[in-house]
Amino acid sequence: AGPCDIYASGNTPCVAAHSTTRALYSAFSGALYQVTRGSDGATTNIAPLSAGGVANAGAQDTFCAATTCLITKIYDQSGRGNTLSPAPPGGAAKGPQSGGVDNSASAIGAPVTLNSQKAYGVFISPGTGYRNDATSGIATGDAAEGMYAVLDGTHYNSGCCFDYGNAETSNTDTGSGAMEAIYFGDSTYWGSGSGSGPWIMADLENGLFSGSNPKENSADPSISSRFVTAIVKGEPTQWAIRGGNADSGALSTYYSGARPSRYNPMHKQGAIILGIGGDNSISAQGTFYEGVMTSGYPSDATENSVQANIVAAKYAAGPLQSGPALTVGSSISLRATTPGYTDRYIAHNGTAIDSDIISSSSSAALRESASWIARTGLGNSNCVSFESKDVAGSYIRHYNFALELVANDGTQQMHEDATFCGQTGLAGSGTTSIRAWGYPTRFFRHYFDVAYIATNGGPEAFDATASYNNDITWQVRTSLG
Ligand code: AHR
Repeated sequence: AGPCDIYASGNTPCVAAHSTTRALYSAFSGALYQVTRGSDGATTNIAPLSAGGVANAGAQDTFCAATTCLITKIYDQSGRGNTLSPAPPGGAAKGPQSGGVDNSASAIGAPVTLNSQKAYGVFISPGTGYRNDATSGIATGDAAEGMYAVLDGTHYNSGCCFDYGNAETSNTDTGSGAMEAIYFGDSTYWGSGSGSGPWIMADLENGLFSGSNPKENSADPSISSRFVTAIVKGEPTQWAIRGGNADSGALSTYYSGARPSRYNPMHKQGAIILGIGGDNSISAQGTFYEGVMTSGYPSDATENSVQANIVAAKYAAGPLQSGPALTVGSSISLRATTPGYTDRYIAHNGTAIDSDIISSSSSAALRESASWIARTGLGNSNCVSFESKDVAGSYIRHYNFALELVANDGTQQMHEDATFCGQTGLAGSGTTSIRAWGYPTRFFRHYFDVAYIATNGGPEAFDATASYNNDITWQVRTSLG
């Protein structure tokens, strides 16, 4: 059985079921998600390998070979048509895309395996989000519902709001009680749990709640597992937060009881959001693998069976890097491969990072400015950071999507912005493209002699599609200096 078969037998059927990694009904064999590729804008649907099975990630890899791909739809497996698409602009923020639409997630940002079979999750960077404002069957008003999501317990921030669940159909904040969604992250602006986070909380609008007290509820623990099962459910005068390690063990109840004051009764509207706040606040990050919303308040026993099903799916992290190794400890230089520009290397001039013409006969100072020591990724140990050879303790980071050389200031933001993952170069074998870990649609690019992290056809000039593959493909060689 799949999670939604279990909810159905508990008389709380799924009314939305979203996953890029697997079928959530044992009989489901339809499309899980749609990808759109950068080279020609073509789309394809990715389905399970077999009914009830894991997504056919190989079909995505074939379709996306030598180009970039975005997840542009996450289909609803429940049959109710509650598919998620890039979110429209909202009361708090417009997305970066034309018309104020939010970004789509990279199709390769969150590689995993389920029972050893490859699949991809939905890696939400700030600016990315999905929504459906015209749903069918989702709870409205004070009606009962449940929901769970499987998330990456190590990918989060304190921005508003990495959510999955019920939100306003207007994309605006219509007041307390207009939402009932799972939140995951370490925001302390509203409520919080014990320790330093991250926490599973409920976004009920105008507040993230860890219990009925609007501030700290110490029974809501900090989460430390790589994969986390997060649950929120609500019915008249009653709601609960539950959670657990998606790879082992049982669920625990972190809160169960009365609504916070001003949240009774609820005024749920029945839109569905992923990765954003109800008003399209787009500052949050996180990774979503699968989740559902139900009609009716699921029993703890039903949810416990769903947790056993998730554990049996055996989620494990997949490799973030491919292609020529960026060996930790090695000194390297990165040479451009764009025809006509192969005499250029990524180099720093003070804190600016450019592509400069440098050769083995350049001065030692110039050669050192283009020399980098690959270090274990400051923000994710499965990728790398690039420490300057001549300014020890300083690293390449992105800031407003330009590359800069900065000292390690110890912050999560700096560490994540200084973390990059090497992959087989889009322009050819033996070469490397260097993906921003936290913004996996973006790669090191030289553009008019300056170095950026660029998306393929994004809104900035440096995102231009012309020469994109060449400009983001590098030859990793022994350092010049
Ligand atoms: O409730 C927290 C956030 O507040 C909601 O997600 C958003 O709509 C509002 O800004």
